[in-house]
Amino acid sequence: MLKDPSTKYRSFQPVHLRDRQWPDAVLKKAPAWLSIDLRDGNQALIEPMNVERKLRMFRELVRIGFKEIEVGFPSASQTEFDFVRRLIDEKLIPDDVAIQVLTPAREHLIRRTFEALQGTRQAIVHIYNAVAPVMRRVVFNMSQDEVVDLAVTHVRLARELAAQYPQTDWRFEYSPEMFSNTELEFSKRVVDAVVDAIGATREKPVIINLPSTVELSTPNIFADMVEWMHRNVARREAIVLSIHPHNDRGTGLAAGELALMAGADRIEGTLFGNGERTGNFDIVNMALNLYTQGVDPGLDFSDIDEVRRTVEYCNQLPISPRHPYVGDLVFTSFSGSHQDAIKKAFSARQPGDFWDIPYLPIDPKDLGRSYEAVIRVNSQSGKGGISYLLEHEYGLVLPRRLQIEFSQVVQEALDASGREMSAEDIGGLFTQQYFDAQRPYGYVSHHLVEDSTRNEVELATEITVDGRTQKLAGRGNGPIDAFIAALSQQIGEKLTVVDYHEHAVTAGADSAAVAYIELKLGDGKALFGAGRDPNIVTASLKAVLSGLNRTLAQRGAADERRVA
Ligand code: KIV
Ligand code: ZN
Repeated sequence: MLKDPSTKYRSFQPVHLRDRQWPDAVLKKAPAWLSIDLRDGNQALIEPMNVERKLRMFRELVRIGFKEIEVGFPSASQTEFDFVRRLIDEKLIPDDVAIQVLTPAREHLIRRTFEALQGTRQAIVHIYNAVAPVMRRVVFNMSQDEVVDLAVTHVRLARELAAQYPQTDWRFEYSPEMFSNTELEFSKRVVDAVVDAIGATREKPVIINLPSTVELSTPNIFADMVEWMHRNVARREAIVLSIHPHNDRGTGLAAGELALMAGADRIEGTLFGNGERTGNFDIVNMALNLYTQGVDPGLDFSDIDEVRRTVEYCNQLPISPRHPYVGDLVFTSFSGSHQDAIKKAFSARQPGDFWDIPYLPIDPKDLGRSYEAVIRVNSQSGKGGISYLLEHEYGLVLPRRLQIEFSQVVQEALDASGREMSAEDIGGLFTQQYFDAQRPYGYVSHHLVEDSTRNEVELATEITVDGRTQKLAGRGNGPIDAFIAALSQQIGEKLTVVDYHEHAVTAGADSAAVAYIELKLGDGKALFGAGRDPNIVTASLKAVLSGLNRTLAQRGAADERRVA
């Protein structure tokens, strides 16, 4: 790279539009959308679509709700020509959809384009020629007058040819190619001449499409250029003002949104931004940006994964896992603090509330995604995500101190494996660590007798100690108290209950109670146990044994460390 890039590259010149209006504009309705997946998108593929892929893409675009679809460049090749014919001959174009085709401003190519379109009910013929100084000077060696003349001559020809096929409802689009790299006064001159030559009226407007064929500036400059055209073209009322942003600087989406704020009515782009070089404007992205502002985009992405599958199949290109709204990871939080906030916001959310979940700009369900991937656990995660998964996937609502205790267990497992843990892994680890902690002490049965005169209970239990059955009996003010008394006597050390929680888990016929008990053995460290059973007393007794077994296991491990 150069030390001083200004010796090789010039900065883009600002537009002198002191009273620009677009910064205060708010997009309150969707623009007219034109899909160029089958043309600009297809042109940019390593392996262009075959007819079967094109048909699949066309059907998907129709299903999504596009009313204008650029289906190809029929004068460019026989394949392109045949595809247009197939759509027309096999009557595959719904009545409310207009196909659009591209042609350069060249006589034989325009004639061939009209041949391809014969018999269609409605069509948009899209004519373009390059207008930028570099193209005039270096590629075509044409003066400004010659460029204007070229555009006018060819749109006139298109108008004459259209008149020969009155059974078709013809519309025209004209693109001054490389608009974003052209002097504004000259773009206006060409556009005004084309609007006149085509005979556009308020009732039968021409589409004037302003492309950033190569994105060269910050999006505010493109917006200024579009607002300048919007305010300065001679016959704005006879124009549908369209834009066609590319994405060379990575700001094509912003440029498109600002240009619509600046007065454009229509936008051309592709699904997920496929297109030449860094791509075209991403229509899905903008449509869903509008949706999250409460504006109906008029396009249906309620099964966005299906749209992605179709696009990946047709384009034979993958979509990044970070791609807005559709990537595999875009609704996923790994960070502990994010997970905590999401969990709290979901709990606070009431039916009918506006969507206000931190770190989730859209409800994944609106796009046909489940909440499964919202929280994923790796070494960056904390207790929030872990307890969210246990609650959502297994109905286990852990008390706060148990959340902290279990997150350390998870963290150790993550450190050992170095890999992400799924909800299933976490549920399995919880079961193994808590519900299955039934050795050396295991629950077999119990019998409870209430002594109402003394406000006490008498609990007879059968447990296993290292596999051998043993009977215990104890009294207390409740079954847990009585069991703790009996166990303390059995092990010769005082057991204390520090905390106790229980709740029901209903999953169809498998409804169960879950109990969590925090226990202290002697003056050791308090640890949780958990038990699950259809009977709440049984669940609590299992939880006591789970807590005791875990405490003994920890003590054993600590002793081993000391001896070593
Ligand atoms: O990017 C571009 O300029 C084009 C034109 C043909 C509209 O695709
Ligand atoms: Zn383009």
